[in-house]
Amino acid sequence: MQNLSDVKNYKYDGSKVFPEAQDFLPILGTDYVELYVGNAKQSAHFYKTAFGFKSLAYCGLETGNKEYCSYVLVQDKIRLVLTTPYSGNSEIAEHIKKHGDGVKVIALSVDDADHSYKESVNRGALSYFETITEKDSFGEVKRSAIRTYGDTIHVFVERKNYKGVFMPGFIEWNSEYNPESTGLMYIDHMVGNVELGQMNYWAKYYSQCLGFANLISFDDKDISTQYTALMSKVMTNGNGRIKFPINEPAAGLKKSQIEEYLEFYKGAGCQHIAVATNDIVFTISEMRKRGVEFLHVPGTYYDSVPDRVGDISEDLAILKSLGIMVDRDDEGYLLQIFTKPVEDRPTLFFEIIQRKGAKSFGKGNFKALFESIEAEQARRGTL
Ligand code: FE2
Repeated sequence: MQNLSDVKNYKYDGSKVFPEAQDFLPILGTDYVELYVGNAKQSAHFYKTAFGFKSLAYCGLETGNKEYCSYVLVQDKIRLVLTTPYSGNSEIAEHIKKHGDGVKVIALSVDDADHSYKESVNRGALSYFETITEKDSFGEVKRSAIRTYGDTIHVFVERKNYKGVFMPGFIEWNSEYNPESTGLMYIDHMVGNVELGQMNYWAKYYSQCLGFANLISFDDKDISTQYTALMSKVMTNGNGRIKFPINEPAAGLKKSQIEEYLEFYKGAGCQHIAVATNDIVFTISEMRKRGVEFLHVPGTYYDSVPDRVGDISEDLAILKSLGIMVDRDDEGYLLQIFTKPVEDRPTLFFEIIQRKGAKSFGKGNFKALFESIEAEQARRGTL
């Protein structure tokens, strides 16, 4: 086994060097995603209203937590935690000062948090905290954590002996305001943006420390426009429930969206959270009505869709009116759309995706998508 200094010196030689995924943890799915935000109460209202989440759990002053409050929201299998500190002197406050609102924790459900921690750290993962056991009258939850890119962490969550609403320390959050779901079901993938030259380091980190495999790679010829380019490697765990594409900027005539992200986030971090729906027309109609802003897809994009994608069961005119993109691979097709950043810094955004057989990521849409992002960058003066 290589240690981490070997990983740091790792140079990609162009050949496939990643072993097939070895599910030694194994990871059962995404347990929750936690964002550190400037005002969790108001963020919670946004995600409930605009995205269709419902109130689930809460901790804060009323539960005896004098350091921070967390609001836990739920929609089908997705749990979103929004956390704000009560004082400026805390690690959470430092995170918000540096990065703005953003993803701190990508929590992974495991059978055994201690085993997951020890196995991954033995393989070179960077420790964040060792296993802690928290108990209340509903049972116990064990958690441990390792670092990933930037200041982002993975928390391993073992909750098989817990019957409470979220975890010890939280109370049920009963709210009279719970808007209807928009049909979001589960997290399909979460993408990280890393600094120039770091993509292979982090791909190797997931391969070596967590037993992930490289599902697919995109180079700057796959993902480029006239002006900007990026490279990406999609890492997946053995059962395919966790997919982490890792992007890095590539040389181009102008500043890429990845460089813009790194500049505003002050380093590597989570670029987008892709959430799955099984009725994207309903989901996007609802989200647009509720005020979510999406990237603009030029009308001409749809001229080539019938030739490129072939028969689809959706009405193309409706997809065009909603700005939903389509792509096909060997196994089927997919429908996808991207929000604009959900905070003032041009950093984190969401993707909504409906898979109809396709297991890929919309390569056929990359060019139109990145031209659309470039148009936004030009308006921000950051292209
Ligand atoms: Fe994506």
